[in-house]
Amino acid sequence: MMSVDFAGWSSAHQSRFEDVLRGLLPQAEVMPQRLHQAMRYAVLDGGKRVRPLLAFAAGELVGAELGRVNIAAAAVELIHAYSLVHDDMPCMDDDVLRRGKPTCHVQYDEPTALLVGDSLQTLAFQLLAENTLNDDARHQLEMVKLLAQASGSRGMAGGQAIDLESVGRALSLPELENMHIHKTGALIRAAILLGAHCGTVTASQLNNLDHFGKCVGLAFQVVDDVLDAEADTATLGKTAGKDADNDKPTYVTLLGVQAARNMAGELHGEALSALDEFGDAAQRLRELADFIVLRKF
Ligand code: IPE
Ligand code: IPE
Ligand code: MG
Ligand code: MG
Ligand code: MG
Repeated sequence: MMSVDFAGWSSAHQSRFEDVLRGLLPQAEVMPQRLHQAMRYAVLDGGKRVRPLLAFAAGELVGAELGRVNIAAAAVELIHAYSLVHDDMPCMDDDVLRRGKPTCHVQYDEPTALLVGDSLQTLAFQLLAENTLNDDARHQLEMVKLLAQASGSRGMAGGQAIDLESVGRALSLPELENMHIHKTGALIRAAILLGAHCGTVTASQLNNLDHFGKCVGLAFQVVDDVLDAEADTATLGKTAGKDADNDKPTYVTLLGVQAARNMAGELHGEALSALDEFGDAAQRLRELADFIVLRKF
């Protein structure tokens, strides 16, 4: 697909992957229907699918079978969708709009939203366990470990805990970076590494991909902070200005918009440097880094 431009490559993967997710999620008419409908509501028809695209790009780089990367990408996207459902609940950010639709707890109810998160998380690990993702089972076990670490108290959930503890506080730059690396960076990094573990990858390649993932993962949340302050609700598909409303420390409150953008620019450069070893083969990852930093939504 390298002859296709980035827009064509990403939209082809996005529409193909939508069908993959439709098939992997429990069908809406299966009992308990309301929970299954809500799971499908939270995952399908929305989102940029940045994490799956990163997994596909990393998988292509190491010659992984697409069917295997589909499963790894789905596992990461299910964790991400669960994190959004819980992030939006009244006990966390208390948001009513997500991906241009009412949030899951608004469309359904809070207990259902809680269970949607629980169920998406466990489905993610079920997928990693019940499909062959690498002929060498050690790689597959490593994927389970990577996703668990990236999702749990030393990863996304831990970052969310820091986020909630930080409301109304002025964090230092290292504290803010630490929060962002965990709440958002960890899962983005995992997406890339899981994609790579579906193929044949050397330790040096994994190291470089890991460094790339750390940089774009942090940059992703810096840009999210900037967009929260600068973009409008219709463009974002979620409530703009929510960080200020909720008195959250962000890169914008700490540094201002311009310095936050500069920081994202520096991380972008560092991310691209980490890909040097791969030459032209890493073009899709470079384009994804560009998208993450330059995006408008
Ligand atoms: C939003 O993530 C939450 C963060 C981790 C910043 P995305 O911007 O990737 O959300 P979707 O998946 O495109 O809706
Ligand atoms: C979200 O951070 C991080 C996770 C969901 C893990 P935000 O709270 O900034 O995400 P948005 O802006 O609501 O998408
Ligand atoms: Mg939040
Ligand atoms: Mg939020
Ligand atoms: Mg945000």
